[in-house]
Amino acid sequence: MKISVIGCGYLGAVHAVAMAELGHQVVGVDVDAHRISELNSGRVPFYEPQVAQILSLALARGRVAFSTDIAAVAGSRVHFLAVGTPQRPNSQAADLAAVDAAVGALIPHLRPGDLVVGKSTVPVGTAAALAARLSAECPGVMLAWNPEFLKEGSAVKDTISPDRIVYGLPPGGDAEVARAYLDDVYARAVDDGTPVVVTDYQTAELSKVAANAFLATKISFINAMAEIAEVVDADVTKLADAIGHDGRIGRKFLNAGVGFGGGCLPKDIRAFTARAEELGCGESVSFLKAVDAINVRQRQRVVDLVVALLGGEIYQKRVAILGLSFKPDSDDIRDSPALDVAVQLKGLGADVVAVDPQAISHAMRKHPQLTFTENVATALDGAHATVLVTEWKTFTELDPTWAASLVRRPIIVDARNCLDRQAWRSAGWVYRGIGRN
Ligand code: UGA
Repeated sequence: MKISVIGCGYLGAVHAVAMAELGHQVVGVDVDAHRISELNSGRVPFYEPQVAQILSLALARGRVAFSTDIAAVAGSRVHFLAVGTPQRPNSQAADLAAVDAAVGALIPHLRPGDLVVGKSTVPVGTAAALAARLSAECPGVMLAWNPEFLKEGSAVKDTISPDRIVYGLPPGGDAEVARAYLDDVYARAVDDGTPVVVTDYQTAELSKVAANAFLATKISFINAMAEIAEVVDADVTKLADAIGHDGRIGRKFLNAGVGFGGGCLPKDIRAFTARAEELGCGESVSFLKAVDAINVRQRQRVVDLVVALLGGEIYQKRVAILGLSFKPDSDDIRDSPALDVAVQLKGLGADVVAVDPQAISHAMRKHPQLTFTENVATALDGAHATVLVTEWKTFTELDPTWAASLVRRPIIVDARNCLDRQAWRSAGWVYRGIGRN
């Protein structure tokens, strides 16, 4: 199929190259000229495993091209909207400016029978409003809402072999036509038996924010348990195992630690709450404010723990921060708990040295006051305290004896509960996890 993808950030670029990998003919469009020229040269402007390989393959096969000119969508039958919907600067709600601009730019190039497919995460009700706009300005063009559930770090796999696909279809006869297009787009996954949930716009939009709200709630739930566990000298990792073996609960997303970050979970729960309030049913999701508050508190608790372990004297103490991205296998620092902890410690007067395999250039632009290194040994050298905040493999596999030989004081805060604490203690470290006795 001939497909266009409007917006070539994390979501759109991955979607474009994954669609090309599936055999479609794809054009990606973005207003950012630098991003487009990088992609056309086979360079991925962010770190995400596998994307570079499938991009260069798709370029070599002539299956994908990128452009800043929206007219490049001409000839495509299906047009994916994959632009960002960040949090508005002075509010909790989502900013739909990029969605509106993308649709406005697309409209003159649409032909009757084309299908516009929304992938961006939007407040419920957005698709219906866009469908009304399309039917007024370009009759005969259809709209579907097809939320994306990919995770950074495994984005390609999640796009090509998703857990499920949701089709939010238009009412009436268009539903069948739109569904046939989407079945063609996702033919491989559909043939492989991937569950397809067919529904209306509003359920599709809600399913996306509900999924992220549920995941965020799970993480804050276990972090709340971690706080209790600390008070009563219990171990939250064992508690998570104990409840996670119950198939109804499940062990995934029950890892206590510094909490969730990234460009999705934090802003999505806030935008969901704001939208529910607009709809007059804010009470129903008021618990998401507690989820958010617990999450923000985790970062503070990690900072407090470091200060306490240094006897309250943090000023000019050297602190090694292991990790800056919001999760491993990503260079994304949006709302990163790791970066937040680093900045807070720096604000308290600590001499912070941060190390990360991929996120340094982004972090440096945002927080030039921090000191960065790509070398773990340099970060550990002379440290009074070490904080593991993002569980990159290179940190979780550190040899505690080697690490102890570099630091001034062997104090480690394992803010992801990912180290073998026995091994670290045996190597002479004062080890503190989150919610672990
Ligand atoms: C999340 C969702 O998982 C995706 O399904 C969704 O498509 C995406 O948002 C989105 O809306 O675009 P992502 O932001 O890539 O994906 O990252 P997650 O794997 O969900 O992790 C989010 C945060 O939670 C990370 O900071 C991670 O370290 C933290 N986390 C995760 C925990 O603190 N504990 C856990 O047990 C699991």
